[in-house]
Amino acid sequence: MQFPLSIISSLVTVLTITLQALPIFTLSTCRSFCGNIPIKYPFGIDDGCGAVQFRQMLNCSADLFFITPSGGYKVQSIDYNKKTLTVYDPAMSTCSILQPHHDFIMTDIQSAIMPPSADTVFALLNCSIDSPVLNHYKNLCFNFSGHSCDELYGGCNAFRVFHLLSNSSPPCCFTGYDTVRYMSMNILDCSHYTSIINTDNLKGLGPLDWVYGIKLSYSLPDTGCERCSESGGTCGFDTETQGMMCLCSSSFNATRECGKNC
Ligand SMILES: *[C@@H]1O[C@H](CO)[C@@H](O)[C@H](O)[C@H]1NC(C)=O
Ligand SMILES: *[C@@H]1O[C@H](CO)[C@@H](O)[C@H](O)[C@H]1NC(C)=O
Ligand SMILES: *[C@@H]1O[C@H](CO)[C@@H](O)[C@H](O)[C@H]1NC(C)=O
Ligand SMILES: *[C@@H]1O[C@H](CO)[C@@H](O)[C@H](O)[C@H]1NC(C)=O
Repeated sequence: MQFPLSIISSLVTVLTITLQALPIFTLSTCRSFCGNIPIKYPFGIDDGCGAVQFRQMLNCSADLFFITPSGGYKVQSIDYNKKTLTVYDPAMSTCSILQPHHDFIMTDIQSAIMPPSADTVFALLNCSIDSPVLNHYKNLCFNFSGHSCDELYGGCNAFRVFHLLSNSSPPCCFTGYDTVRYMSMNILDCSHYTSIINTDNLKGLGPLDWVYGIKLSYSLPDTGCERCSESGGTCGFDTETQGMMCLCSSSFNATRECGKNC
């Protein structure tokens, strides 16, 4: 038996109208991984996800990058328990490679909410004798577990050149991020720097065994994310008003928690 053409045609019309009337559903907008790095609150790689204070700090293009005014730095790991994010700047000098210096610059917001951790030490190398950190600001340099400049110049292939060229040991300085933040390398008058993480237990360990990079220590904004995640939602924010929003499903966002919209 054949359906009369008119019935088929009206079915098609009804179907078309129904399909057009359906709201356009978007899939969950927050990716929870970038490669093998989990992305959780307060971070987000899709706009509207995570805490608004951390908006546009990460991008995920094959690898995860931390974006600052001085460039994108590859994220090595995020420790959500210790609230740290470790980045590595491939343009930075380390014990094994000497590269032209390149300031690490963060925005004011970044410096405020995720400054380098206390166990990240910056080593300013090959400083001129006129450097402020050897004169007026010499108290910014500290005793780094008894390590010396000569240890770096002598123990690292990359830094041996400082020793060779000057036939002596040019000064160096172990300091915290604030020194680098407030004075650019040009003002500091040191030709290179490197930074070392996890510095709490480096007494007696030579520079070949240090871990180079920058560890940022972030704080969680107090936006009521717990309530949202306990209700099964994902914390995000309204991209226009920047107000916190609880993302409940692909078709429903609540202001505070899923199940209630008040
Ligand atoms: C929910 O919020 C996200 C992030 O701001 C947004 O991308 C999405 O379009 C919103 N969905 C609805 C249904 O409003
Ligand atoms: C992400 O950051 C990296 C490093 O700065 C850059 O090369 C890449 O183009 C950025 N990707 C997007 C999608 O912005
Ligand atoms: C060390 O610093 C001096 C300036 O104080 C500079 O002329 C020299 O090129 C630097 N050495 C290297 C290997 O960059
Ligand atoms: C630096 O600290 C070490 C202990 O970590 C100590 O043995 C050494 O004497 C100190 N050096 C100076 C110059 O204060």
